Amino acid sequence: MIKENELKSVLLSEEEIKAIVKRLGSEITADYKDKNLLVVSVLKGSVMIMADLLREIKLPLKIDFMAVSSYGSGTSSSGTVKIIKDLDINLGGYDILIVEDILDSGATLSSLKEILLTRKPASVKICTFLDKPDRRKADIKADYVGAVIPDEFVVGYGLDYDEKYRNLPFVGILSPSVYGG
Ligand code: IMP
Ligand code: MG
Repeated sequence: MIKENELKSVLLSEEEIKAIVKRLGSEITADYKDKNLLVVSVLKGSVMIMADLLREIKLPLKIDFMAVSSYGSGTSSSGTVKIIKDLDINLGGYDILIVEDILDSGATLSSLKEILLTRKPASVKICTFLDKPDRRKADIKADYVGAVIPDEFVVGYGLDYDEKYRNLPFVGILSPSVYGG
């Protein structure tokens, strides 16, 4: 899945991730007891956290999926978001919980949150598996954060570099030699 020389170190083990997801699930379960919860997964990075987190939210809920791209490839996003796949469900009356893999510059989530707010849901909150606050440019905060991490490029548990490594069951710091850093 990943060669030893492509991995600088393991940042979060499978066991640590399990504990994180359990905690997020119970926080969300407590907060959304009397709400009309619609969990929105931002593809593709959130695929793992979405699937695991849903099973830790002990409430009736609905799910939907969205795909956005911040233009360009590489290890940082450019700030403009394009909707690749839109939601199927009309957001009126729903309490939206956006689930993302990582909050980095914040460009993706701040622009996504703005777009969803124009559709008049009851509320919009953000759950991010990872948070890299050192790199924040946009004025945005997540309501639920799995783990705050240092300014390193990480892969695994949904997170990719050039569409690879998403299937790693742990989160690892990618060796800069992989992306020529
Ligand atoms: P932002 O718009 O800069 O906050 O970037 C968010 C997106 O950039 C995430 O959804 C990821 O797809 C990608 N990203 C940012 N940091 C990393 C990382 O360390 N590893 C993998 N993808 C990342
Ligand atoms: Mg990505």
